[in-house]
Amino acid sequence: MPEFKTVRGMRDFLPEETRMMKYVEKTARSVAESFGYEEIMTPLVESYELLAAKAGEEVRLRMFAFKDLGGRMVALRPEFTPSIARIVATALKNEPKPLRLFCLGSLYRYDEPQRGRYREFWQSDFELIGSAKPEADAELLILTSGLMERVGLKGCTFRVGHVGVLRGVLTQEGLDDKLQNGVLQLMDKKQYEDALGLVKTSGASEKCLTILRSLVELKGSDVSKAGETMKKCVDGYEKAVVAVENLSEILRLVVESGCEINISVEAGFARGLEYYTGMIFEAYVPELDVALSGGGRYDKLVELFGGEPTAAVGVANGVDRIMLAMQEQRVIMKEDAGKKIMIIPVGDETRAEALKISRALKNAGMVVEFEIMGRRIGKALEDADRRKIDYAVIVGKKELEEGKVSLKDLKKREQTTVKIEQLAETLKS
Ligand code: HAM
Repeated sequence: MPEFKTVRGMRDFLPEETRMMKYVEKTARSVAESFGYEEIMTPLVESYELLAAKAGEEVRLRMFAFKDLGGRMVALRPEFTPSIARIVATALKNEPKPLRLFCLGSLYRYDEPQRGRYREFWQSDFELIGSAKPEADAELLILTSGLMERVGLKGCTFRVGHVGVLRGVLTQEGLDDKLQNGVLQLMDKKQYEDALGLVKTSGASEKCLTILRSLVELKGSDVSKAGETMKKCVDGYEKAVVAVENLSEILRLVVESGCEINISVEAGFARGLEYYTGMIFEAYVPELDVALSGGGRYDKLVELFGGEPTAAVGVANGVDRIMLAMQEQRVIMKEDAGKKIMIIPVGDETRAEALKISRALKNAGMVVEFEIMGRRIGKALEDADRRKIDYAVIVGKKELEEGKVSLKDLKKREQTTVKIEQLAETLKS
């Protein structure tokens, strides 16, 4: 047999990494809970048509797509948003709005593997369905910033833009949706000259090209100033002006909510996914050049999947990239780990009684390991030290006859004798 390796782009998670992933997931769940998002689960395999509908070329071409044995064209989910829009259009269509939904799980994209980019990765995804109000958009920005803070990350910045600004200009210039998607895809990849070239060959005016050039350069951390400059820039393009006003209002709410969030308003910012209709954003930390989170407003997707016209805004946070950022920033996880206890029977005749004590402590909610290697006491204590056990309960024949065990505090190196019926209480205190 050959020596097997994981498939390219796929990874094993050993205990330390798994612990960190569970920590991020737990934090995301607690954020979901405190913001009122209810967790749902969607299938790993969905119809290709659903996933491809508005994925944008980047994601569409990188799907793990195949025909199942029944001849259906399916794919492994590359994101959660289409599945959630499908559920909102069907099973939850009569539910009162707003709906706040949350998903956690693995996603699959045939991306080129590199630091922070894998073919299997995890997201915590938040979708707020049924409100077109700027406070809904603001909620997603505040929530994402809160998640980064709660996992312990520092220096997070948000790139924020609005699809309606660029689309507003391009629509008024007569570019159809397909052309607009092409332009935005190029802008997402920062291929601005190619994007402008495409606009030019589509017959857009010189004025439009000048505006687009200024929009690409327009960036600023002063939210209200950036908004004003942007508004002047798109003067005469009615829909673009409305979009700028919407963006300014969202950001005003975020800033005035007291949320300490570093925002970079970027008028030429675009995202690869095609379903966005409004505000879009990505979150970064200085240590990584890839985004930790991405999100935005998508008011047409539920309708496209056969539902009522439904406003929606959401964000997906890359769990793997959050973990990478935590490692870079040497974040210490605030784990409420219980004290670890090791039960060591001395000699074969005390094993059954030691197992009984072990069972009682576990039932009392404690973290208990049983010495199962038949080691002598000295070696067993050495092993307990190596594995960072806090207390050893040594079950010896002599003490047992008196209804007692020896309790050793491995950190303080102190040993006492405790009555078995008082052991759980002593350990808890
Ligand atoms: P996205 O920007 O494609 O958006 O992905 C969101 C996050 O998933 C990224 O910021 C990144 O952290 C993580 N991610 C994406 N691809 C990879 C990869 N190959 N390896 C590791 N991490 C990755 C979406 O998925 C949208 N569904 C977000 C959304 C929700 N928009 C509205 N609602």
